[in-house]
Amino acid sequence: MSETATEAPNETPYFPMDRDSRCPFAPPEGTKILREINPVSRVKIWDGSTPWLITGLDAQKTLLGDPRISVDETLAGFPHWNEGMKANVSIRPKSVFNSDGEEHARFRRMMTRAFTVKRVKALRPFIQQTVDELIDAMTEGPKPADLVTALALPVPSIVICQMLGVPYENHDFFQENSVQAVDRYATPEENMQAFANMFMFMHEIVEKKMSEPADDVLSDFAGYARDGDIDAAEAAQMGLGMLIAGHETSANMIALGTLALLENPDQLKLIRDAEDDKVVINAVEEMMRYLGIIHNGQRRIALEDIEISGQHIKAGDGVIVELSSSNWDPEAFPEPEKLDITRSARLHTGFGFGPHQCIGQQLARAELQIVYNTLFKRLPDLALAIPAEEVEFKSDRLAYGVYSLPVTW
Ligand code: HEM
Repeated sequence: MSETATEAPNETPYFPMDRDSRCPFAPPEGTKILREINPVSRVKIWDGSTPWLITGLDAQKTLLGDPRISVDETLAGFPHWNEGMKANVSIRPKSVFNSDGEEHARFRRMMTRAFTVKRVKALRPFIQQTVDELIDAMTEGPKPADLVTALALPVPSIVICQMLGVPYENHDFFQENSVQAVDRYATPEENMQAFANMFMFMHEIVEKKMSEPADDVLSDFAGYARDGDIDAAEAAQMGLGMLIAGHETSANMIALGTLALLENPDQLKLIRDAEDDKVVINAVEEMMRYLGIIHNGQRRIALEDIEISGQHIKAGDGVIVELSSSNWDPEAFPEPEKLDITRSARLHTGFGFGPHQCIGQQLARAELQIVYNTLFKRLPDLALAIPAEEVEFKSDRLAYGVYSLPVTW
């Protein structure tokens, strides 16, 4: 709590809230105000409904781990992200993202097998080689270069395509459609068309891999479909979920993280000069806390009445868990506005919390550790090629980031 009491706003605040362009790394000021008044408060969303917004770390962890909180998006009162997500709810197959309890655990078991520590460890040399080749190509090309297209987007795309067994030649197609599928301002028809395009493509690959399996994750999913554990549509949906969840998130962390380090040269120097891997391992956790790229709220609905933080959440109420605000909760992280790669930030919720916590987090960590460790050592003079105030930030997507990052070296 701040020393002077924060005043409650007169009207129910609108969510999502804008970040302050003068402090682009800070979560929206409005979420800070709500957290100080009550970390469990009402907000208004696009359809006029007033779900609860959860902004404090303790309240978030309590609710995300509570089985009375559900991701069942078909229930009346579910706080959908936009009109498109609501309109298409009946045609979205069940998956790890929208199922609870035993059904969720079943999907999740099938997916986590793809991310065993052994499999991710075995991928590290491939990730390192990919990063090195992309930096080679960038430095052989003209200056300035756009770090987003040269490195941030291709690293996770190449890695996830390799893991899934999806031809990387299709990355433009996926790039365009995945942006459109989760664009807050796209029409419901545009959202749906983008999902349908990707789904049909993925379905075809799964069907092919059911009869011609290879050593990749989509073949594993196709195998479950062949054995009757799931159907081919569910297998395609699992692959699609991984492709969407796993590429723009990591890409935003690479580009936004690079910008944050360029703006904090003392912290960048610690990474650049480090000989011990522990430095970058810890730095990635702090970057996950500090950047809060998943800032549009994890959507949930209460199945039963819940008392929390002096508030009464009723069965059927929508609940939105806003992760970036809790990662700047000063009670959990003193002086949250300081990027300090030596602090202990391990308890951040950048990968979520509870049963739906990120499945790909070990892969994302490996990608980020390798990129940060390699980029600043190989290009010690890396610098922004435009004034920092001219960098354009993406607020209209599910994940926060930058559209482009012109750099020189
Ligand atoms: C830095 C990169 C990443 C960030 C910040 C991130 C963040 C998150 C967050 C916050 C959640 C929780 C969602 C919720 O509770 O509603 C989540 C779930 C998930 N993530 Fe990630 N993620 C990243 C990378 C990845 C990668 C690389 C993959 C896979 C290739 C992946 C796959 C998933 C899946 C499948 C889920 C759903 C889990 C479930 O519902 O049980 N993510 N992620």
